[in-house]
Amino acid sequence: MKRINNISSQAGHIADLVPDQNQPRVYIETYGCQMNVADSEVVLSILVDNGYSVSHDPEQADVILINTCSIRDKAERKVFRRLDLFDRIKKNNPDILVGVIGCMAERLKEQLVNNYRVVDIVIGPDAYRKLPELIDEAGTGQKAVNVLLSREETYADISPVRMDKNHVTAFISIMRGCNNMCTYCVVPYTRGGERSRDPQSILREVDNLIKSGYKEVTLIGQNVDSYKWKENGGNIEVSFSGLLNKLAEAMPDMRIRFSTSHPKDLPDEVLSVMSRYNNICKHIHLPLQSGNNRILDLMNRGYTSEWYIGRINAIKRILPDCSISTDIITGFCSETEEEHKETLSLMEWVGYDFAYMFKYSERPGTKAARKLKDDVPEEVKSRRLTEIIELQNKLSHKAKIKDLNRVYEVLVEGVSKKSDNDLFGRTSQNKVVVFPARNYKPGDTLKVRINNCTSATLLGEPV
Ligand code: 5AD
Ligand code: SF4
Repeated sequence: MKRINNISSQAGHIADLVPDQNQPRVYIETYGCQMNVADSEVVLSILVDNGYSVSHDPEQADVILINTCSIRDKAERKVFRRLDLFDRIKKNNPDILVGVIGCMAERLKEQLVNNYRVVDIVIGPDAYRKLPELIDEAGTGQKAVNVLLSREETYADISPVRMDKNHVTAFISIMRGCNNMCTYCVVPYTRGGERSRDPQSILREVDNLIKSGYKEVTLIGQNVDSYKWKENGGNIEVSFSGLLNKLAEAMPDMRIRFSTSHPKDLPDEVLSVMSRYNNICKHIHLPLQSGNNRILDLMNRGYTSEWYIGRINAIKRILPDCSISTDIITGFCSETEEEHKETLSLMEWVGYDFAYMFKYSERPGTKAARKLKDDVPEEVKSRRLTEIIELQNKLSHKAKIKDLNRVYEVLVEGVSKKSDNDLFGRTSQNKVVVFPARNYKPGDTLKVRINNCTSATLLGEPV
């Protein structure tokens, strides 16, 4: 493959990278969480720096990469369906190389190249710097695999090629991996142990985004509250609240969000820093998973429902205007009807603005898979999930009714899906607001009075 070394990938956006006939073209598809989106941006940066251009069509590409998620069985099945499609594309063009990267690569390793003839390359989340070499190796007809996990890799020095749709909001990964060992979760196995990224490199990345016109960053990590960096030969320790403080102070015009917080680790100090800075968005994603203490213990979550209630009370006390969202897993091993009802009643007590809700999906190799029985019947899981979703719909609607007649500051992200005459944006609380476009454009901030709502959005008029 002919490669021209590019000068530098200093940030840049995927929309500005035009397919170039003289360079090998890479097509990348991303599944799973925000962390995977951020990783795909790093992967593109590495490849562009090594002489690749980008293709927006897998059939026109020389290399197809699929960045994968293992969190639930459903996520993996989706990827296998895509691999079937790439297999068909490869029949017409056998020179195309197909790479599976990310969490499924890490979980399934050589099985992927051994059992799926379409797969040429398998690369885990900590081995992306090796991609150019591994693609070259696969180009010689050998299958290429690197799934080594690292204790240090944070890709801190790499300027990601942005893949957002709006040029207004971007993700910044501040840490990688996870040390929590929730018994249901595959992430510690697919992404390895926790490591934090140098705050100076984070500041530089935010600064580059400001220069490119971005208005909002979301700091992401599996558990941002355990962010920790030692400075000055280990004498000074930067915690997550310290990092937030540094960023909010240094970049007053940048909106800052973060995800995900862990209920066992979320300290009042983070809430206080949030209350001191207007540019830190008033939204906390605080996964509950279950409202029952026996189940929380089986999940090894490290808190009780009483502790969780204490954290919510702290949020309500220190940040009265903060929205709260959550993740719930229903039908975890041995969950009874009573225990399920405790989840419903805790959800009702908190009154979440938003929730991601899932049926428990057993993941091979996790502690739950080894030690506990996945014994809640599928139809019971489905019915409980429906009950949880119906309750959350009610709670979300109630929260929206409370917003009627309020005036919110909205950062415009783009044109509304339903009408070209309307724009949409988000409030500090992460609520989507649709309003008449007038002369506003993405990146603007304006005040909007809420006068109506649908099930998913607030509707309003600029004031
Ligand atoms: N089954 C179902 N949901 C899961 N999650 C993590 N692991 C599983 C699993 N095995 C959910 C949790 C987590 C979110 C990212 O995904 O709710 O917070
Ligand atoms: Fe992200 Fe977890 Fe899925 Fe990996 S398994 S992509 S970390 S959600």
